[in-house]
Amino acid sequence: MFQSILFLMFFHFSYEYIKYDTGLFLGFDYESASFNCQNGFSKTSVIQFSGTFENIPQVFIYIEKIDWSQAQLEFSLSITTITTISFTITTSCANNRIYRNQIRWFALDDRRIEVLNNFNMVNPDDKTFSIQNPNASYGFMTITSIHYAGPIDFTLTMNSITPNSATIGITKIAGKFSNLKQIGYQVVVGVEEAFINLGLKSPTGAFSSDILPIQQNRWFFIPLQGLNYNNNNNIRIRAILTTTQSTIQYTYGTWDQSETPNRHSQIWVAYQFTNSYKALECFSIRTSRKHLPNLSIVPPIYFELVSLNAIYTSSGNYNYIVNKSIMPLYMIIQSTCPNGKKIQADFNKCNSCSVQKSYSFTFNCFSQMNYIGFFPKFKQAFQQYNQLKINLQSSSLEIIQVLYDQKITEQIIVKVQIVDQ
Ligand SMILES: *[C@@H]1O[C@H](CO)[C@@H](O)[C@H](O)[C@H]1NC(C)=O
Ligand SMILES: *[C@@H]1O[C@H](CO)[C@@H](O)[C@H](O)[C@H]1NC(C)=O
Ligand SMILES: *[C@@H]1O[C@H](CO)[C@@H](O)[C@H](O)[C@H]1NC(C)=O
Repeated sequence: MFQSILFLMFFHFSYEYIKYDTGLFLGFDYESASFNCQNGFSKTSVIQFSGTFENIPQVFIYIEKIDWSQAQLEFSLSITTITTISFTITTSCANNRIYRNQIRWFALDDRRIEVLNNFNMVNPDDKTFSIQNPNASYGFMTITSIHYAGPIDFTLTMNSITPNSATIGITKIAGKFSNLKQIGYQVVVGVEEAFINLGLKSPTGAFSSDILPIQQNRWFFIPLQGLNYNNNNNIRIRAILTTTQSTIQYTYGTWDQSETPNRHSQIWVAYQFTNSYKALECFSIRTSRKHLPNLSIVPPIYFELVSLNAIYTSSGNYNYIVNKSIMPLYMIIQSTCPNGKKIQADFNKCNSCSVQKSYSFTFNCFSQMNYIGFFPKFKQAFQQYNQLKINLQSSSLEIIQVLYDQKITEQIIVKVQIVDQ
């Protein structure tokens, strides 16, 4: 009995991890909590997830209900800690009162989405962020804090996104931009499948969305991306969502006094994915053996990514991101095969197979056949950027692919070794 309880506990803790979670946090709303946010007040809250994640998830938010006073208005907000069971969010208000920020939060354990934080940027300006996942070339911004000293009119824009970085711009309207003293936001980037972006809306009055079909396995996300505010009344914006089994519709605007012209987007964010990011598979390989009169005039191992101008002959560790337009990917590997040695080579052939996962070769070296060439061709299910780590030594070559799927993993796709017979 005791053993089976232990077993059940083990089973529970080991296998029932959550992969995604979402909720509405009301701790920064004066009507729901003790929150008198002005003149230096600050508050920190810990938000529990509904279960335990296996890895620390990424957390991103939008403010679903806003009530901010006129200038001077300044609040900071940041997510300070994320663990597998909770995250910590902190805010503070310097001058006039922030009545409420209702926070709709989302937590996701998946590397096909990447969250880049830019909390509380004083002296707002354009900014470039580096991105880990080279295939994460789509994204949006969501405002998390602000400081204004008068009328403001600005929009956050995604100026460019490359396999390594994203540059976020901010419109700078003369006479108004100087009133924007601080802005905080998150940039959420992801693979193509991650987002269905229905576009930027720029209402100047009461806004009511179209009736939108619900997208399976996706969250509806309404990021605020800009404001045109005259500083006459409070900024009051709330999103009210009305859902049926198959549709969602929302209104976005004030409940009292004047509307604040704003820019916000409508985005369906995936929390489950169908495209799995798998390693390159070798679908064809040719080998050759020949005699070189003098082995000491060639590098021990030569590696080339064909037509990419990428040739490696010196020992070292290198990184290479293969453009997604390169498909299939051709490689050339030439290895010296000194007398008394043999060459062992493996090329990843089939990710989903349990046997015959790779093409494997062993060639014994002798002086008439002292130079071995491998000419593999690689492909994959769909176009994507491929991040390769190349580890070249005098008697070995390893090509490791870094994969940003639900988890980040590394997989060897090529291994060539010169070993003793
Ligand atoms: C091989 O080449 C090296 C370097 O050019 C040279 O020093 C050596 O004498 C050559 N050996 C033979 C057998 O030709
Ligand atoms: C990838 O290749 C395409 C087509 O050659 C090119 O237009 C694009 O700029 C390349 N992308 C990067 C990030 O180099
Ligand atoms: C990587 O990007 C390409 C091109 O946008 C896309 O076709 C592919 O589905 C992406 N990979 C994943 C894992 O979503």
